[in-house]
Amino acid sequence: MGDDLLSQIRLNGAAPRHVAVIMDGNGRWARERSLPRPLGHRAGMKAVREVVEGGLEAGVEVLTLFAFSEENWQRPATEISALMQLLEEYIAREVAELKDQGVAVHVLGDRTRLAPGARAAVERIERETRDGARLALNLCISYSSRGELARAARLLAEEVLKGVKRLEDIDEDAIRAKLYTAPWSDPDLLIRTSGECRLSNFLLWQLAYTELYITPVLWPDVTRRDLFQAILDYQGRERRFGRITA
Ligand code: IPE
Ligand code: IPE
Ligand code: MG
Repeated sequence: MGDDLLSQIRLNGAAPRHVAVIMDGNGRWARERSLPRPLGHRAGMKAVREVVEGGLEAGVEVLTLFAFSEENWQRPATEISALMQLLEEYIAREVAELKDQGVAVHVLGDRTRLAPGARAAVERIERETRDGARLALNLCISYSSRGELARAARLLAEEVLKGVKRLEDIDEDAIRAKLYTAPWSDPDLLIRTSGECRLSNFLLWQLAYTELYITPVLWPDVTRRDLFQAILDYQGRERRFGRITA
């Protein structure tokens, strides 16, 4: 599925190395079907599989998915527990295949807020997929970008207080090194589904020069073709990084 688009991507040249996705619209997908919201989240798991496999096919190296924000803790307890249960289920069900596919899973965010079961599952998938060398799959869970930046500031202040760093060592690279995303380059492409035109506290630092792609498709309806369409669109962009073209 999507072979035509995939060959076009290959003809165009390199795929974006790092793709980030705000997976949005599960609730609306459920409402359109008069289903409870958690069934929308459940349906969204298939879309995660689609973009992981599509990412592997297209040669994406890093895929960073926004799965649950710090602000999402303010949702009703029933929805939160359904989401946490799905997380554990996703991990139990996918870990073997992800490992086979060469995917290394990393969970970014404040994991101290996760229930013990979810936290154990997260640690398990990170441990078991550690050697994956084809794709880094970053799941942002209990993640907020401002929280991540405040944490970075705190970590740096601590090092200055301890005398490990001098004040003048605190530059952009020093901040970058304290972000959850430190091991990876910034996203080249950000996709947001369900048509919302905002960042919702996602990767504010890292997205400084990222190309944005917003699609009206609701997350549970996303297939690898949607990822391929976004990549094709990206390949037609001109990234100037503030310079002018020669
Ligand atoms: C995205 O879908 C999943 C999470 C934020 C956890 P939503 O639950 O936000 O779905 P909508 O935006 O209400 O449709
Ligand atoms: C952003 O979606 C968070 C995730 C996709 C996990 P939200 O649905 O929470 O964002 P808002 O509330 O519409 O900005
Ligand atoms: Mg939403």
